[in-house]
Amino acid sequence: MRPSTLFYGALGLLSPIATSALELNPDDPDSIKAAAKVVAAGTRDWYTGDRVGDTPGNLPDPYYWWLCGAMFGSFVDYWYYTGDDTYNAITKQAIIHQIGDPKAFMPQNQTSTLGNDDQAFWGMTALSAAENKLPDVEGEMSFLSLAIAVFNTQAPRWNARTCGGGLNWQIFTFNNGYDYKNTISNGAFFNIAARLAKYTGNATYTEWATKAYEWELSVGLISKDFHFYDGTSERQNCSDVNHIQWTYNAGIHMAGAAALWNLSTTTGDEAGAAKWRGRIEGIMKNIDPFFNPEGAPGVMSEVACERNGLCDHDQRSFKAYLARWMGFTMLTAPWTRQTLMPKLRTSAVAAAKQCGPGKGGCGMRWWRGVNDGEVGVGEQMSALEVMQNLLIDQVAGPVGEQTGGISKNDPSAGSDGDKLTVQYNAITTGDKAGAGFLTILVLVFLFAGGWWLITGE
Ligand SMILES: *[C@@H]1O[C@H](CO)[C@@H](O)[C@H](O)[C@H]1NC(C)=O
Ligand SMILES: *[C@@H]1O[C@H](CO)[C@@H](O)[C@H](O)[C@H]1NC(C)=O
Ligand SMILES: *[C@@H]1O[C@H](CO)[C@@H](O)[C@H](O)[C@H]1NC(C)=O
Ligand SMILES: *[C@@H]1O[C@H](CO)[C@@H](O)[C@H](O)[C@H]1NC(C)=O
Repeated sequence: MRPSTLFYGALGLLSPIATSALELNPDDPDSIKAAAKVVAAGTRDWYTGDRVGDTPGNLPDPYYWWLCGAMFGSFVDYWYYTGDDTYNAITKQAIIHQIGDPKAFMPQNQTSTLGNDDQAFWGMTALSAAENKLPDVEGEMSFLSLAIAVFNTQAPRWNARTCGGGLNWQIFTFNNGYDYKNTISNGAFFNIAARLAKYTGNATYTEWATKAYEWELSVGLISKDFHFYDGTSERQNCSDVNHIQWTYNAGIHMAGAAALWNLSTTTGDEAGAAKWRGRIEGIMKNIDPFFNPEGAPGVMSEVACERNGLCDHDQRSFKAYLARWMGFTMLTAPWTRQTLMPKLRTSAVAAAKQCGPGKGGCGMRWWRGVNDGEVGVGEQMSALEVMQNLLIDQVAGPVGEQTGGISKNDPSAGSDGDKLTVQYNAITTGDKAGAGFLTILVLVFLFAGGWWLITGE
């Protein structure tokens, strides 16, 4: 993912804006499915990777590779929640095409910008496929093994040389931003490890998930009162935290905590269950500011950038992940439902009201009541996820190896990975890379974060 200070409002001009609102009755699964179907079709309209001569797993410019991986995660869940398999073929084709070399969602074409978070978003999509029982593609790496491969390549990158640990944002030291230890990279690693722990019962994953969460706490990426901040630079040994807060950082940790609560409860680990329950409760309390835009209480918004018009292409998709992880959390820690479901319902109804058919069907600011003309892949995905995650009663919840899982487990997957990373990083140094990035960071901080900083603490 890239930081950006640019204002992309003009994107809305690229496609026609729908004016009709979708019907969505949150008490009626058929109504939810019908609305999700329209929004899913609008999402798919942005994708060209399956066309002859194009690359499966890539979205057209200006969208980055990671977002395409995340989008297929939305399609995996779309199929799971609605039973509509329209997008399964393009999803499988994209995942298989992007396995890369090493075989862990590290395609060579992405090397110049490949972050741990980018790789992890594809890994989380593969893991959702395994949890949702999307059948593996014969003759290819299984979905579970792809997620394991991401874990197995990332764990050796844990960097205790600075800040007492953590994953750097970038995988390769020669890339801009290597010095940044960001919350989404560490949060995605936490999320994958926690879900792999639940899926397989393998204690290695539990240990790493716990370690990642505790490290984020120790440097203040997670505050004691459960705010999730953006990241921190190893140049100051992580003493200086960028305090912007995004919906997806809260969501990705909430889901990991839910997986670990579920695992602890299932295995009779009462202390573990109490610890993770307390954390989930804290996180749930602190997502409230994301649901209180003026005049539209309960409607999800990306507080740091929706009002000031500074959301970039990445950030426009972040609400999708908070919605996705709210669904996952309710499925795996059912006691969270009374807190989370009302927020999801209010948000989905508001999203539907400003959504219509087509590529530009859904806008960005749900609290406005009409399509605000800010349209794109992220806006479509966010609307899709907030609607389809209402359907938790239609599904059994994520499976594990002992509870119906069908994806093949190769615990050594991705072990061809660290050689490459070490090789690259031995011949370069990160010291040259960070300066430009830090400047950008300061700008993002000033322009995007100001308002949220005042009210968020
Ligand atoms: C890498 O780029 C080439 C040239 O555009 C393309 O043919 C190939 O499919 C791409 N590979 C991946 C994994 O994206
Ligand atoms: C850097 O931070 C870590 C963790 O907070 C700490 O253990 C270590 O002593 C610090 N190193 C320096 C040089 O300050
Ligand atoms: C754990 O999660 C599964 C779904 O993955 C769910 O069926 C089960 O009820 C959860 N366990 C508890 C104790 O809530
Ligand atoms: C547990 O997971 C780790 C990390 O992926 C792997 O190296 C190990 O082989 C796994 N153990 C088993 C018994 O599968």
